[in-house]
Amino acid sequence: MSVLPSIEEKASYVEHMFSRIASNYDRANRVMTFGMDQSWRQKVVDLVAPPFNGRALDIGAGTGDFLPLLAEWIPRGVVVGADFCLPMMQAGQPKIDAIANGAVAAFVQGDALQLPFSDDCFDAITTGFMMRNVIDIPATFRELWRVARPGGVIACLEVARPRYALLRLGHRVYFEGLTPWIGALVGSDRQAYAYLPQSARAFPSPPELAQIMQESGWCHVYYTLQSMGAVAIHIGVKLM
Ligand SMILES: C[S@@+](CC[C@H](N)C(=O)[O-])C[C@H]1O[C@@H](n2cnc3c(N)ncnc32)[C@H](O)[C@@H]1O
Repeated sequence: MSVLPSIEEKASYVEHMFSRIASNYDRANRVMTFGMDQSWRQKVVDLVAPPFNGRALDIGAGTGDFLPLLAEWIPRGVVVGADFCLPMMQAGQPKIDAIANGAVAAFVQGDALQLPFSDDCFDAITTGFMMRNVIDIPATFRELWRVARPGGVIACLEVARPRYALLRLGHRVYFEGLTPWIGALVGSDRQAYAYLPQSARAFPSPPELAQIMQESGWCHVYYTLQSMGAVAIHIGVKLM
């Protein structure tokens, strides 16, 4: 049974869904990915490689798992996590409070389609598992391009599907069959974790997403597949 909302309902559906699961989100993530999710985020941050005194934005920051990783690269700079779901950021506030290397870090409430930042202000932009949830992917990439500095880099982490038939089958059984049940047990919300594989199915393939990024203004776009193709990281640069 489809749990995907209509485009008109999607933003409010997503915001309510993440509000419901905020307190169990990190635990469910670690269990469902066998603990691999943090290594994917680390890879994303290493790929954008922000300057030590720069400004980084993590959009769709949720509980802020990217923020301490970005802060390690930016001990003299600023790290902002933006999300439209307040309970997710509240659940992640202790991670920000624990940053003690000199980086300034903060959450800001905002919509990825209309960010509360001026043009050309971030050296590095990361986003993890948000793009599936927005109502307009090209418009979101255009808005992120607007707030990036010329020369700024973006890295987008999202779910993908393995290329090889047998792996694809195993992935499908796990992701579509088991994760909703794991989500029900660990994340206490079966509907939210049924949305996860269904939204992944409707999401563009890695080559299609690369094309969307290019058409949205990002240059030198490429992607790298991780964990046998279970996730993809897309990289792009805003040219001067
Ligand atoms: C699956 S969570 C990912 C959280 C975090 N990036 C991570 O790696 O765990 C998706 C997050 O994107 C946020 N989100 C979805 N659509 C958004 C939008 N249009 N603007 C801002 N945040 C959005 C949700 O509220 C949620 O916190």
